[in-house]
Amino acid sequence: MTIIEDAPARTRAEDETGSPARTAAASPADRRREVGAPEGAAPEIVEWVARMAALTEPARIHWCDGSRAERDAMLRELVDAGTLLRLNAELRPYSFLARSDPADVARVESRTFVCSEQEEDAGPTNNWVAPAEMRETLTGLFRGSMHGRTLYVVPFSMGPLDSPLARRGVQLTDSPYVVVSMGTMTRMGAEALARITPGSDWVPCVHSVGAPLEPGQADVPWPCNDTKYITHFPESREIWSFGSAYGGNAILAKKAFALRIASAIAKDEGWLAEHMLLLKVTNPEGRVFHVAAAFPSACGKTNFAMLKPSIPGWQVETIGDDIAWLAPDEEGRLRAINPEAGFFGVAPGTGRGTNATAIDTLWGNTIFTNVALDDEGDVWWEGLTDTPPAHLVDWQGNDWTPDAGRPAAHPNSRFTVAADQCPIISDDWQDPRGVVIDAIIFGGRRAGNVPLVAEARDWDHGVFLGATIASERTAAAEGTVGELRRDPFAMLPFCGYNMADHWDHWLSVGRTLRGAGRPPRIFQVNWFRKGADGRFLWPGFGENARVLEWILARVEGGAPAQASPLGWLPAEGAIDHADAGVSDEDWAELFALDVDAHLAEADDAERFFAQFGDRLPRALQHQLDDLRSRLRTEF
Ligand code: GTP
Ligand code: SPV
Ligand code: MN
Repeated sequence: MTIIEDAPARTRAEDETGSPARTAAASPADRRREVGAPEGAAPEIVEWVARMAALTEPARIHWCDGSRAERDAMLRELVDAGTLLRLNAELRPYSFLARSDPADVARVESRTFVCSEQEEDAGPTNNWVAPAEMRETLTGLFRGSMHGRTLYVVPFSMGPLDSPLARRGVQLTDSPYVVVSMGTMTRMGAEALARITPGSDWVPCVHSVGAPLEPGQADVPWPCNDTKYITHFPESREIWSFGSAYGGNAILAKKAFALRIASAIAKDEGWLAEHMLLLKVTNPEGRVFHVAAAFPSACGKTNFAMLKPSIPGWQVETIGDDIAWLAPDEEGRLRAINPEAGFFGVAPGTGRGTNATAIDTLWGNTIFTNVALDDEGDVWWEGLTDTPPAHLVDWQGNDWTPDAGRPAAHPNSRFTVAADQCPIISDDWQDPRGVVIDAIIFGGRRAGNVPLVAEARDWDHGVFLGATIASERTAAAEGTVGELRRDPFAMLPFCGYNMADHWDHWLSVGRTLRGAGRPPRIFQVNWFRKGADGRFLWPGFGENARVLEWILARVEGGAPAQASPLGWLPAEGAIDHADAGVSDEDWAELFALDVDAHLAEADDAERFFAQFGDRLPRALQHQLDDLRSRLRTEF
C-alpha cells in the first residue's frame, strides 16, 4: 500500500481528460515518485494518474494492492466515517451495512451516455453527446472534485488473471465504499497491476462522487452529487463517472467496463460481452452441460444461476450471475467466462424458499446496501422470512414496524459477496479457457403473451427472440416499475454501440459457429406469466429445473416438441406440470397463444425496429415477416 500526501500540480488544460496514450514529457521515475506509484507500474498508468490527480486535486493518492490488511483498514475507516455499520459479528461475521443517500439508490439510465464520434454509432437506444462536448463538461465537473479526499488507484482484472479472455482496467475513485466493492467484484490489486505491462491494453475508468471537501467541512456518510454522468467513450475505451456511489453507476468494472466498453471491444474482435448468468448442470446420467441466460435486471439471473432443482438427480452449479464474455474457440465452439469475481445481488425476494444457496452464500464477509437492520444487529429484507420481525430500522435509518406501510428494505437493496463463497460454485468457474456453452436462454418479465418456454427454430430466429425481448421495468434502475419496455438481449442499458449492430454481430457470430459445427441452441423463457387473477401461473425458482430439463433434452435431441408460430414448444406431457403443482388449466394458460395480441406485438416490434433505419439487419426483418405469416396462416 502506498500513500502520498501531496498531489502534483495541474498540467495543461487540454490534456486533462485526454486518453492515457497522450502522455506529457517527464521522466518516468520522477512521475512515479510524484504520484507514489509502486515499482513496476506501467509508465502510461503513472502518467495518467498524475494527469487525473492534477485535474481532481485529491488530498492524497493510494495505490491499492488488494491485500487483506488494506481491506481491513479501509473497512475500519468506513465504519469510523459512518458509511458502514458493523453487523453483529456472531450472526453475520465480518459483514457490514451501508445506507446510501436516498437519492442514490439505483442505476441512472437517463444520465448514462455513450459518446462515440458519430451519433449513429451509439444508436437510438443510447444517450449520446459529442465526445468533445462531453470532455469539456467532464473537465469542469472533475476539476477539484476530489478536494479533501483520497484518490484510490484500483487496478483490476476482469476474468481469471491469466486467462486469454481476461481484460484489465484501472479505476480511479474517491469512494472507499467503491474500492471495497471492487475488491469483492473483481480480481483487484497488485496481481492485476503487474499484468498491465507497458503497451498492453487496459481501460481507464475515472470515478468521483463529486463531493469535494473544503478545509473544515464535515463529511456525510454517503457523499454523492445531484448531478450525475455515467459516460463511456467506446472508441478510446474510457469511462468517466460522476456523482453516484451506487452499484453499476460507480463499480465501473461491472456494467460500464464488462458490458458497455467490453461489448464495443468484443464487436471489433469477434466475441460477445453479455448480460448473462452462467451455470453448469449435471443430469441424473452424469452428463454435464453449460448454459448462458440473459434476463433483464432483477428478472431472476442470480436465482437461476443458483437453482436448486426440484427434480431428483439433477445438480446445478454456479459460474456467474450477471455478466458473461463469450468467444468462439479454435474448434468453433462457443466458450464463456464470468469476468466478475463476486455477486452484487438483489436482496428482496431472496429467502430460504426461493434461493437457499444465496442465503448460505451470505453467511458472512458480506456488504449489504440499503437493507433493513434488526434488533440483534443482523439484516432483513422483504422475502427473507415469511413474517417480518416486529421491529426493524429501515434502509433510511428510521424505526419500522410491519404496519409501516412501506418496505423496510429498498426494492433495489443489494448484497456484495465473493463468488467463491457460494457453496455451489462450479469447479470450472475460473477455467481460463472458459466453458463450452450448450444452450443460450433469453427471458423477460412478462405478465402476458410470452410462453413459459419456446425453442428458437434456428440461430437467426434465436437472435430475433433476443432482439425482441420486452420486459416489465424493475427497481434496478430509475423509472416506473412494471412498465413494459423493449429490452433487447437484456442489454438495453448496457450495449456500448448501436443495438442494431449488436444484432448483426450476433448473426455473424452464429455464422462463425455454424461454419465450424453446431452452435448452441437458443431458447426463450418467461417465469412471470400471470393468470387473470394476477397470480403467477408458474411456481418458478426450483421448479424452473423442469424447464431446464426439457431444454437440455432438446439439446441432446431427445425431447418431444410441437411446432408453433413462436418456435418449438414442449409436446403434451414433455414437462410434468402436475408434479410442479400446476393445474391443467394454468398449464394451458402458460402456453396460450392469442394471435391478435401477437400480431399487435409484431407491429410494435416493427416500430421498434424502424428506429434503427437501414442499420437493422435484413435477417431480422425477414424473421418478423415470417412470424407474421406463421401467425396468420399456419395455425
Ligand atoms: P440484476 O442483478 O439486477 O441483473 O438481477 P437478476 O436478474 O440477477 O435478478 P435476481 O435473480 O436477483 O431476481 C430478482 C427478483 O426476481 C427477486 O426478487 C426474485 O425473488 C425474483 N425471481 C427470481 N426468479 C424467479 C422465478 O422463477 N419466479 C418468480 N416469480 N420470481 C423470481
Ligand atoms: C443490474 O441493474 O442489472 C445490476 C445491478 O446487475 S447494477 O450493477 O447496479 O447495474
Ligand atoms: Mn445485472
